[in-house]
Amino acid sequence: MAIYKVLRYPDERLRTECVPVTEFDDEFRKTADDMFETMYKNEGVGLAAPQVNIHRRFVVIDCSEDRSAQLVLANPVIVSKTGTASIDEGCLSIPEFRAKVKRAEKVHVRAQDRYGKEFEMDADGLLAICIQHELDHLEGKLFIDYLPQFKKDRALKLMKKIEKEEKEEGKR
Ligand code: NI
Repeated sequence: MAIYKVLRYPDERLRTECVPVTEFDDEFRKTADDMFETMYKNEGVGLAAPQVNIHRRFVVIDCSEDRSAQLVLANPVIVSKTGTASIDEGCLSIPEFRAKVKRAEKVHVRAQDRYGKEFEMDADGLLAICIQHELDHLEGKLFIDYLPQFKKDRALKLMKKIEKEEKEEGKR
């Protein structure tokens, strides 16, 4: 297992549009496993490949309390959405910053699993919001893009502060 370094806002590489996954080989599955490890270590519920500088269309998600519901979504598409919902969202690329974003309440998704097998699923609650958040990453979009400028400024300030503190502590 390996832990990836997660890119942080405002790193421009987070803005890269991703290309489809075409190889569902052992290397792909190893990458997905390492992304789960990275996500768990950082106490996240979702992580998109571009956040670890891999610009391909896949995300890993686990919204369960006991880390028992691993979901790999490769080449995912939201087929339909209904309702509206919002919760305090966070992002491993914008640590310690949280804000509410208007999302659909329920989504129907089509994707491929870690073996390339196509499947469809319905999601609601936290999982539905997590899916929408992670899929945005594949388009180079971050949840703070939905927020007013003063909140983006606040996020940027926070990232600078965290970076400075980590430098002083000799991390990263
Ligand atoms: Ni995120």
